[in-house]
Amino acid sequence: MLRGEKVGLRARHDEDIPILLAELYDDVVNSARAEGGPWRPITPGSKDPRLVVDDKEQGHVPFSVVALDGGALVGTATLWGIDTHNRCAHIGLGLLPAARGKGYGTDVVATLCHYGFIVRGLHRLQIETLADNTAMLRSAERNGFVREGVLRSSSWVMGEFVDEVLLGLLAQEWKSS
Ligand SMILES: CC(C)(COP(=O)(O)OP(=O)(O)OC[C@H]1O[C@@H](n2cnc3c(N)ncnc32)[C@H](O)[C@@H]1OP(=O)(O)O)[C@@H](O)C(=O)NCCC(=O)NCCS
Repeated sequence: MLRGEKVGLRARHDEDIPILLAELYDDVVNSARAEGGPWRPITPGSKDPRLVVDDKEQGHVPFSVVALDGGALVGTATLWGIDTHNRCAHIGLGLLPAARGKGYGTDVVATLCHYGFIVRGLHRLQIETLADNTAMLRSAERNGFVREGVLRSSSWVMGEFVDEVLLGLLAQEWKSS
């Protein structure tokens, strides 16, 4: 398990799946905002890749996030789009509603940076988030990510186009921050 200050990033366990399904993916608004695509129901027991991990998928590393204090499941985190030629990847995360606003998100980003830069030897990490997602923007910026651009009206979210912000962090910036 990867350990941050408040959270651990571990493998996905079977018993995590119904909780993530009910609290994250069955929340239509959260899914529509986080997934970059239309919400549709996931059938219990299906092998949907958002829930069930394929360990042979090299470009995508999903974790379950647990609180170090007590070990409860608090969300998901992913290093995705891993490009071993350009040595870059993207970060994604989603916390259960009761776990938000407690500093876990900031610590998940820090722990994913450790995984990306130290464990995987990557050079650049990137985050895309909706322009109104203050908690995600702050979690990224607290870890040294800088805003590199705004993708105007790039996301169709629940009836309207919303801007996305692209943030990036280079390995040398992370080490010095
Ligand atoms: C986005 C998310 C991962 C952030 O994690 P979090 O644990 O809630 O955030 P933290 O508690 O670490 O807070 C980070 C910062 O955001 C601020 N913040 C937290 N919740 C906030 C809210 N609802 N509105 C405004 N600011 C908020 C905190 O004050 C903190 O600011 P600071 O660094 O200036 O002190 C989490 O809220 C979440 O899972 N949301 C739903 C799914 C989602 O949006 N995923 C990201 C898709 S790209």
